[in-house]
Amino acid sequence: MHDYDLLVVGSANADLVIGVDRRPGSGETVLGSDLAVHPGGKGANQAVAAARLGARTALLARVGEDDYGRLLLDSQRTAGVDTAGVLVGGAPTGVALITVDPSGDNSIVVSLGANARLSPGDIRASARLLTAARVVSLQLEIPLETVAEVVRTATAGFGDRPGPRVVLNPSPPAPLPTDVLAACDPLVVNEHEARFLLSDGPAGSSEDPEVWAEALLSRGPRSVVVTLGGEGALVADRDRTVLVPSLAVPVVDTTGAGDAFTGALAWRLGLGDELEDAVRFAVRVGAAAVTRAGAQASFPDAGEVAAL
Ligand code: RIB
Repeated sequence: MHDYDLLVVGSANADLVIGVDRRPGSGETVLGSDLAVHPGGKGANQAVAAARLGARTALLARVGEDDYGRLLLDSQRTAGVDTAGVLVGGAPTGVALITVDPSGDNSIVVSLGANARLSPGDIRASARLLTAARVVSLQLEIPLETVAEVVRTATAGFGDRPGPRVVLNPSPPAPLPTDVLAACDPLVVNEHEARFLLSDGPAGSSEDPEVWAEALLSRGPRSVVVTLGGEGALVADRDRTVLVPSLAVPVVDTTGAGDAFTGALAWRLGLGDELEDAVRFAVRVGAAAVTRAGAQASFPDAGEVAAL
């Protein structure tokens, strides 16, 4: 028996968001909208997205002992996420400086703060959460050694019981150890992340997402999902590659849409969906998330997804 459909191990940031007509170039100043402060962070976003859809979700993360940390904890609890694994203190809460342009595209700079203090020791101390989850979802706004510790624990299993299935979105991208790559089922990447991971070979300069998916699979993950924004997502495993189209929706703000996609995908895998079915559901969640401003504030509930 598992207590959680999904455990998210990752970052929690306060998102400081300004709308701009265009982004400044180097040495340039532009004026923007009033500042908005939202709960964000790729890990916290995934947890809220899944919980809002109905998943039994826990978050393992670290925030500072400050107002932003309290904002993030409140947002998780309101969505129904179990926050027993959210550690407090060690550094100020992570902050993301975000600009959003009129097309809804964003640029993000993250100051990791407390996220950088989420250590392998913290994972070992919270191993109970890993034993209780069907799926564990990871990103890279926490130390890579911490991600590797989660993967080691998950792949070792617990006596005669397998550990949780590992979903990884390598964002922001970094070189990945072989054992981490091999555990991913799936590795979830967007175009930037795919190109980064493949930058040491010819596939990195290809324009064809199928080439990326095939090249990424050859590096060891059990399956790969390449997200393609408004085009949908490509699902690839040893047997086949399938394009799952998205829905045409008005785009207001893409911030956090990838996190909503991955949180939804990981949850559906935890329920036992096949990967392709889970992606079909997740593209609808991602589509809904771009129609509203903000990250967590834009995530749909199950009724909204069904109505799309
Ligand atoms: O993916 C969007 C998220 O990236 C934002 O919420 C921001 O905090 C950064 O982590």
